[in-house]
Amino acid sequence: MTETRIKHIACIGAGYVGGPTMAVIAQKCPDIKVTVVDISRERIAEWNDSNLDNLPIYEPGLKEVVAEARGRNLFFCTDVEGAIREADMIFISVNTPTKTYGVGKGMAADLKYVELCARQIANVATGNKIVVEKSTLPVRTAQSIRTILDAESNGLQFQVLSNPEFLAEGTAVSDLLNPDRVLIGGSEEEGGQAAVRALVEIYARWVDRSKILTTNIWSSELSKLTANAFLAQRVSSINAISALCEKSGADVDEIARAIGMDSRIGPKFLKASVGFGGSCFQKDILNLVYIARSYGLTEVADYWEQVISMNDYQKRRFAENIVNRLFNTVSGKKIAIMGWAFKKDTNDTRESAAIYVADYLLNEQAELWVYDPKVKAERVYADLDYLNTRGEDENRKLVKVVRDPYEAMQGAHAVAVLTEWDEFKAYDWQRVYDDMKKPAFLFDGRNILDRNKVKALGFEFEAIGYRS
Ligand code: UDX
Ligand code: ADP
Repeated sequence: MTETRIKHIACIGAGYVGGPTMAVIAQKCPDIKVTVVDISRERIAEWNDSNLDNLPIYEPGLKEVVAEARGRNLFFCTDVEGAIREADMIFISVNTPTKTYGVGKGMAADLKYVELCARQIANVATGNKIVVEKSTLPVRTAQSIRTILDAESNGLQFQVLSNPEFLAEGTAVSDLLNPDRVLIGGSEEEGGQAAVRALVEIYARWVDRSKILTTNIWSSELSKLTANAFLAQRVSSINAISALCEKSGADVDEIARAIGMDSRIGPKFLKASVGFGGSCFQKDILNLVYIARSYGLTEVADYWEQVISMNDYQKRRFAENIVNRLFNTVSGKKIAIMGWAFKKDTNDTRESAAIYVADYLLNEQAELWVYDPKVKAERVYADLDYLNTRGEDENRKLVKVVRDPYEAMQGAHAVAVLTEWDEFKAYDWQRVYDDMKKPAFLFDGRNILDRNKVKALGFEFEAIGYRS
């Protein structure tokens, strides 16, 4: 039995998955050269910036890991072909957005970037390679990658592994350092198993072997979609109950505590909110729904699709409530949007609930002032422009993005908290109240503010899952 010892890793895609994952692998394996490549020159330049505050991704603890490994055995560059040629193991961490055209539009994952990578690997490689799919992908993609590689391989041996990423943004570095489990799927033939062992040896440098699971490739791929579907389902379930609480007078956080103490249910992912966002939940469920439909499993598809419907309902309900409470009109009224990221401790805004709430309020001709501690103004405008609901000029006319939270809230008719940033809890809410138009409406989409305190200050306060 020959064992492959990996000396050189390449990672295609320097995004939220590829960047942090490779930084941690490089930190833990100083004898392995790790090269992260991307077609975006700008992104690579940011990864190489001598000022670590300019890294393209904000993650607590990331800059310290990059500081240790960068230039030692961690490199960022745009030479995709060079990195492929040099590496024994290649991670594919490119983006796989939901298709915006053709068959499966709005549902299936767009695999064009993955396919391009596979073709490039096959065309450039001069030796055998292990290819690891890291991007979130629909089931059976590994098989497609394998087919492309084999078709173009010129007799070289490629092994394809599935190694789904379970890190959550905002806690990426600690999730990578202390994962609940690492999942590696590979083919059952000897070459596949040798490739699996090579990857196991990398993770085993810092992860207990009992937490490294090896499965067949389809189980690994489907586990990723299933994990995200179950997590999102919990959020939609508690959000469904939050609507009932608002009518009945039950308290959604008390319910979460009561049910979470049942060890069969557990306490995590029961925080009612304005709705889940992020690059994975919606996309993965849509993938699951698409796959189920394509196999004719209509009931299965409908079942999981409901998790997304409930999330859309939650975002819409929150926005509608703002309009209702503001005497059925927000036209020309200043509303502060506090938080644009899809959760705290990240600058990622993909599928953020804030985008949809803002879009709804803009349709009602509100004037929005946005503040987020980590999201840049260009990102806010790009997110709104992408929806195509109105022209770019109008988005810029109706939305202001400011760097001072108090400026965003000064003179506002209403404040809406849309991300659970810790700093929001520490604001001088008395000052905010004094500077706002009266009645001063405060809508907490994350249930982070102390209800009794802000009500005592005089706010008309609304939170998710409480009758006001
Ligand atoms: C998720 C998975 O957790 C991760 O394993 C996978 O690799 C990628 O997708 P991520 O999208 O980064 O990670 O964040 P996560 O912490 O799962 O939160 C997703 C969304 O759900 C956020 O908008 C968050 O605010 C929301 N959420 C989460 C709630 O509204 N309530 C909760 O109780 C938990
Ligand atoms: P994720 O959250 O999955 O990491 P991101 O969008 O943050 O997604 O990162 C994916 C990265 O992959 C982007 O920086 C993009 O430029 C890069 N990318 C996409 N296609 C290719 C390709 N063919 N070669 C190199 N990099 C690519």
